[in-house]
Amino acid sequence: MPTLFDSYTLSGLPLRNRAVMAPMTRARNPDAVPNDLTAQYYRQRAGAGLIVTEGVPVSEIANGNLYVPGLYTDAQVEGWTKVTQAVHAEGGAIFAQLWHVGRASHQNLLMGRKPHSSTARTAQTKVFAYDLNGKPGFVPATEPHAMTTEEVRETAFDFGKAAHRAIKAGFDGVEIHGANGYLLEQFLNPLVNDRTDQYGAQNLDDRVRFVLEVVDSVVAATAAGKVGIRLSPWGRFNDMPDYAQIEDTYLHLIRKLAERELAYVHLMDQSNGQGRPEVDGQNAAFLAKVREAFPKGAIIHAGAMTLESGNDLLQQGLVDLVGFGQPFISNPDLVQRLQHGWPLVQPDRRTYYGGGSEGYTDYPAYQG
Ligand SMILES: Cc1cc2nc3c(=O)[nH]c(=O)nc-3n(C[C@H](O)[C@H](O)[C@H](O)COP(=O)(O)O)c2cc1C
Repeated sequence: MPTLFDSYTLSGLPLRNRAVMAPMTRARNPDAVPNDLTAQYYRQRAGAGLIVTEGVPVSEIANGNLYVPGLYTDAQVEGWTKVTQAVHAEGGAIFAQLWHVGRASHQNLLMGRKPHSSTARTAQTKVFAYDLNGKPGFVPATEPHAMTTEEVRETAFDFGKAAHRAIKAGFDGVEIHGANGYLLEQFLNPLVNDRTDQYGAQNLDDRVRFVLEVVDSVVAATAAGKVGIRLSPWGRFNDMPDYAQIEDTYLHLIRKLAERELAYVHLMDQSNGQGRPEVDGQNAAFLAKVREAFPKGAIIHAGAMTLESGNDLLQQGLVDLVGFGQPFISNPDLVQRLQHGWPLVQPDRRTYYGGGSEGYTDYPAYQG
């Protein structure tokens, strides 16, 4: 019976335990370039079996947040190289999360351009940008531009270019961000995707076409075993309405991902965080169906996981790895603390986004 503390081999990559540090945007890079503080933050957390970085925009137009480090310039590759070297020096493993926010953005972040999406309808959501007083804050997303067919193809290519840069920067692999209402989900959701071209949402094949082209572009730039994807089937973040065929859509997609032999599928369960206990879509029965649809690669589950619930999923054979987000913010040595039964520190939400070392690199390891 595996536990969180057992090692795991992820498509040939040895992980020393089964705890994954879930991707978390921390918005501490005003010039969009990772720096020494970024490297220190990830180094402190290298005890995770696998770190998935914060969401990393694949291009300028992919960005929807102030102070987020990207992967589309040489300076960014240099910055991320410091991070991967720091994590590897501690014996850790690290994937970059490749991100395109789509319409969850603001024209002020994009030099006046409209955010790109599957649709021209504005998302009823807020993004971290400059407010009316020119101060950083959460402001409503602005009207998007519905991408042309050609722009959709180019965007898939941007993911491949960023993946290539990620490998150059020393990452062990990449995670495609297909969750939380960002661009990929804006194509998957038929109540958001109102296109009439081959990337529309009329049938399951069209609905998943863009996501699969992104995957194929990233695999071509790396290798299938170095690629994972994050999905949040029942998530509503960023104005994602529920629709009738959620399970069918995602199982169809996951079968196609299995054919491509991706390293992992990372499922994020938002129901806890959103106070929607009535939404029980991502339950054991669904995880069992995912296992059937994705028999060879790894399954990661994240969202309010604890040592107990994580071990329970591992022991039922429903998942291979367990994702922890917020506990890693305030407990850099989270795995050791869980292993020894040491107390956990609660994170301070006020320092989640923006600022410097406070609430970022100043949470100490357990002192005894
Ligand atoms: C500050 C913060 C930033 C986050 N940024 C991202 C992100 O960039 N990409 C992503 O996929 N999820 C992001 N998430 C979601 C987390 O990866 C995780 O799924 C979520 O916090 C639930 O897990 P937890 O209950 O263990 O924190 C973020 C969460 C937090 C708290």
